[in-house]
Amino acid sequence: MTAEAITLLGLGNLGRALAQTFVRGGHSVTVWNRSEGKAAGLAATVAGSAAEAVAAGDLVVVAVLDPAAAQKVLSGVDVRGKSLVNLTSGTPDDARELASWAEAQGAEYLHGAVYAVPQTIGTDASSIIYSGSEAVSARKSLALLGKVTYLGADAGRASGYDVAILAGMYGLLGGFLHAAALARANGIEVSELTPMLWSWLADLQPALTTFAAEIDASRYDNAESSLAMNQSGLATLVKAARAQGVPFAGLDAVKALVDRQVDSGRGQESLARAVESFGLGSQGLAGGQQEDRH
Ligand SMILES: NC(=O)c1ccc[n+]([C@@H]2O[C@H](COP(=O)([O-])OP(=O)(O)OC[C@H]3O[C@@H](n4cnc5c(N)ncnc54)[C@H](OP(=O)(O)O)[C@@H]3O)[C@@H](O)[C@H]2O)c1
Repeated sequence: MTAEAITLLGLGNLGRALAQTFVRGGHSVTVWNRSEGKAAGLAATVAGSAAEAVAAGDLVVVAVLDPAAAQKVLSGVDVRGKSLVNLTSGTPDDARELASWAEAQGAEYLHGAVYAVPQTIGTDASSIIYSGSEAVSARKSLALLGKVTYLGADAGRASGYDVAILAGMYGLLGGFLHAAALARANGIEVSELTPMLWSWLADLQPALTTFAAEIDASRYDNAESSLAMNQSGLATLVKAARAQGVPFAGLDAVKALVDRQVDSGRGQESLARAVESFGLGSQGLAGGQQEDRH
C-alpha cells in the first residue's frame, strides 16, 4: 500500500489505537492531542497544534470525546482540500452540521461509527460504518482499521444507524443488569444465569427478524406473540420485580408501550405494534390520542 500522510486529532483510547494501526500499516502519521504526553511510545510526529497537525496530513481523522470537542478542535483550522474522517460519536444532526462546515471550507467529509474496542481496532473484530464522501470511504488506509460499510452520501446516516444500534445495546445492557439484580435477589449466581440468558436471547433472533419486517410494512396481523399475551407476562414480571425489591423503570416503560396498544383495542395483534406507541411522546404514553395507521 502506498504510504499516506495521515493526521490523527485526539489520542484518547480510540485515537491512540487508530494512530497505532496507521503506523503499523506503514503510513506517515502526525498526531495532536489537547493535553500533552499522550503520544508517548507512538512512532508518529507530534504536532504543536491541531492546525499544524492538519497541515501535515492529507487524510485527517478526528476521534475526540463528543461533537462539541470535535467542533472546537477543528474551529479556525484550515481544512481546505483535506479528507476529513470524523469517528467521534454524536447525533445525525451533529454529523450533518460538521459536514456542511467542511463542505463550506472546501474539505471532503466522511462520518464513521466504530464497532470495536481500542484493542480490536485493526482486527477482524472491528467494523466501521460510514456515510458522507464515498471517495474518502474508499481510501485503502481506512480499510486497515476494520471492515468498511458505506451507507450513502448523507453524512448523518451512519450516526442514524449508530444511535439506533446503541439504543438497542443499552436496552439489552439495562435488561441484563435487571436480570442480574433479580437473580441475586433470588440467591442465583449471575455467572450461572448468564449462559442461559444468552442462549434464550440468541434463540430470539428470528423473532426480531419477523418483528422488523412487520414494522417496516406497518402490518401487525400476525399474532404469534400477541400484545395481550405479552401485557400479561410483563405485568407478572413488574409484580415479581417489585416483590423482590428490584423494580425497574425500564421494564415499566416497555409495559407502558404495550399497554397503550392494548388499551386502543389492538391486543390480538403482534407485539411489534408497540413501536407505534413511540412518536407520541410522554403525552402519548400517558394516554394521548393514538394515530391509527390501520
Ligand atoms: N473507546 C471505545 O471503545 C470507542 C468505541 C467506539 C466509539 N468511540 C467513540 O470515540 C470517541 C473517543 O473515544 P475514546 O474512547 O478515545 O475517549 P477518551 O479515551 O475519553 O478520549 C477522549 C479524547 O477526547 C479529547 N477531548 C475531550 N474533550 C476535548 C476538548 N474539549 N477539546 C479537545 N479534545 C478533547 C481528549 O483529550 P485529553 O487527552 O486532553 O483529555 C481525548 O483525546 C468518543 O466519541 C467515543 O464515543 C469509542
